[in-house]
Amino acid sequence: MGAPSSRRSESRGCGNIIETQEDVTPAVLAAMAQTPDDRLREIAAAFIRHIHAFAREVKLTEDEYDVGIDFLNRIGQATSDRHNEGILFADAIGLSTLVCLLNNGNAGATETASALLGPFWRMNSPKTENGGSIIRSPTPGPELFVSGKVLDAAGKLIEGVEVDVWQSSPIGLYENQDDTQADMNLRGKFTTDAQGSFRFRSVKPAGYPVPTDGPVGDMLRAQSRHPYRPAHIHFLGFKPGFKTLITQVFVDDDQHLSSDAVFGVTRALIGDYRRHDSGAPPAPDMKAPWYSLDYTFVMEAGEAKLPVPPIK
Ligand code: BEZ
Ligand code: FE
Repeated sequence: MGAPSSRRSESRGCGNIIETQEDVTPAVLAAMAQTPDDRLREIAAAFIRHIHAFAREVKLTEDEYDVGIDFLNRIGQATSDRHNEGILFADAIGLSTLVCLLNNGNAGATETASALLGPFWRMNSPKTENGGSIIRSPTPGPELFVSGKVLDAAGKLIEGVEVDVWQSSPIGLYENQDDTQADMNLRGKFTTDAQGSFRFRSVKPAGYPVPTDGPVGDMLRAQSRHPYRPAHIHFLGFKPGFKTLITQVFVDDDQHLSSDAVFGVTRALIGDYRRHDSGAPPAPDMKAPWYSLDYTFVMEAGEAKLPVPPIK
C-alpha cells in the first residue's frame, strides 16, 4: 500500500526516497551535485537530464532497456587490443564527426581540415624517408604517389611536422585485419622538409565495410544501412605548437563518397586522385597507369597531443 498523499508530498525533495518516476531525475542530479570537478559535474548532469528525457520520450519498455544494456555490454566484450568497437559505435552514430567538427574549424563555423580518427590508428608506425614506400609486403594494386604540404593558418610552410599515414589495401583491409599483410604494411611516419612537404609511394586504397561482426553490425543491419566507407588515406600531423591534425583524404570517384557509413566526408577532404596513363612517373620503376595525390594540409596553432591509440 502506498503512503497517504499528504505524507507523500512532505517527503518529496527529502533525500532520495523516490515516490514517482518524476522524482528520479532530480534525485540523481542532487546526488551528483557535490562533484568537485566543475566540468565533470556539468557533463554528468547534462548526461542524466538527456538520457532520462530520452527514456521518457520513447516510453522505454523493460524489454527495450534490456536490449540496450546488452548492446552496451557487447560493445565492451567485442573490444580488444586489436579491435575497438566503442569507437566504431561512436563513428557509426555520427558522434565522432560531430565532436571533431565542434572542436576544429573555428568551433564548427567554418570548413575544417579534420576528420575522425577511426579505430585503426597505431602508435609507432615505421619512420620512413621522404619519397619512400609504405608497401612493406607484396600488395597488388594501382600504384600511387602522394605529395603533401603542410601550412600554418597564415599560409606559411611548416617544417618538421611528423606526419603519420595509414590506409587500407586495394582489397579494402588494414594490415591488422589481414594476416597476409606484413606488420605495419601501408603505415608510415614522415617528417616535412624545409618546404613543408612530404612524399611517399603506396597503392591506391579501396573502400571497405566497417567491421560488421559485432553489435555495430547488428545496428547497421537493423537500420537497413550499408557498412561501406569510401576509400581514403588517414593522416595525423604532429608538431609542438600546433593542434594535432587528424584527418583523411577521400578518393574522389568512390561510389560511397556521399554515403559514408561513419559520416566522415566533408567537401574539403575530397582529394584529387589523378590517373596517369603516360608521362614521366615520380619514380623510374612506377608503371602506367599510376595515380597521384597532391594535398595541402593546414594546421591550427594549439596543443600538440597524441590521441589514445584505439588499438595496440
Ligand atoms: C577508418 O577509417 O579507419 C574507420 C573509421 C570508422 C570506422 C571504421 C573504420
Ligand atoms: Fe580508414
